[in-house]
Amino acid sequence: MSNSKNVAAVVLVGGQGTRLRPLTLSAPKPMLPTAGVPFLTHLLSRIRQAGIRNVVLGTSYRAATFSDYFGDGAAFGLELEYVVETEPLGTGGAIRNVLDHISADDVMVFNGDILSGVDLTALLAAHRRKRADVTLHLVKVDDPRAFGCVPTDDDNRVQAFLEKTNAPPTDQINAGTYVFRRDVIAGIAAGRVVSVERETFPGLLAGGARLFGHLDSTYWLDLGTPAAFVKGSADLVRGLAPTDALPGPVADSLLLPGAVADTSAVIGGGTAVGRGARIEATAQVDGSIVFDDARIGAGSVVRRSVIGRGAVVEDGAVICDAVVGDGAVIGAGCELLAGIRVWPGVTIAPAGIRFSA
Ligand code: GDD
Ligand code: MG
Repeated sequence: MSNSKNVAAVVLVGGQGTRLRPLTLSAPKPMLPTAGVPFLTHLLSRIRQAGIRNVVLGTSYRAATFSDYFGDGAAFGLELEYVVETEPLGTGGAIRNVLDHISADDVMVFNGDILSGVDLTALLAAHRRKRADVTLHLVKVDDPRAFGCVPTDDDNRVQAFLEKTNAPPTDQINAGTYVFRRDVIAGIAAGRVVSVERETFPGLLAGGARLFGHLDSTYWLDLGTPAAFVKGSADLVRGLAPTDALPGPVADSLLLPGAVADTSAVIGGGTAVGRGARIEATAQVDGSIVFDDARIGAGSVVRRSVIGRGAVVEDGAVICDAVVGDGAVIGAGCELLAGIRVWPGVTIAPAGIRFSA
């Protein structure tokens, strides 16, 4: 059963999640609570739905947090293996590093921070139909500069791979999911740092390899920044983003068991509230993630923000587009806006920080 489709999955989860600090100081990005469960649960549920059973996680940063939570994968309907890089090997090095753990001829490789509705079965079918060496899931975005730009010709053949350039020639980008022929992975240099984006793909193209794009316009989001992270979670809660792992019904908000909200509080916009968290009277919480055991005080306003585990937002504070680290205390009447990040354990005195006068 496990190899019935002759395809295995590899998920790259070894990055440090720098842009999501301070949340990623204690947990790697794919393990952060997203719509009530570690983000990776959603991605794994999509892999499982596509009928793939063998999944190898390429880990490095805080590697044990993955195996502690997912174990052998049986509880998730998967056969999970972990390959740890003691020093991060880069995206290409990580893919090469798991080769011995894979016997399937086709290998689906996932960046571990992508929320996507792409039809994985169709992606695999396109790869086989084209007899491609590598097939890349592509999407169009408004600002391609932060991504790998991938121009293609009329036959969907990849013409170039331009990682994070200032003047990308098209808005079509690498969506972070690939199908590799196994023997193409064997051709990546072993035992050293390799970037699949900056070295492997350009090298394959220069050598005339068959790289094809698979353009798709369903839901797609890279959860690498705080703004994207809260949006992804809220979209999952509201059923706008695909998952088979939502721990409750699709709704305007998700309260995990043990979360308590006053009946006068207004919680919506896809907000997820963790176990043991408390939302007090008349508080407004919109489009946000409240981690376990946090407390949102009476009359406070929280929008598009992450409130870390055990953090406290005291009465009447306003928190918009912000990240509050685990255990931090935001004093009553504070006003934190516009991308501000509060480090774990920091206490801000009442009215101690305000944007407006
Ligand atoms: N095992 C391992 N080892 N994993 C790694 C390493 C490593 O050394 N470095 C990064 N990763 C993992 C990260 O954990 C993440 O899941 C994935 O590789 C991609 O890394 P990001 O840091 O999220 O890259 P990005 O978002 O800037 O760019 C990548 O994704 C874009 C799409 O979202 C590139 O692939 C771009 O070309 C692409 O457009
Ligand atoms: Mg990313």
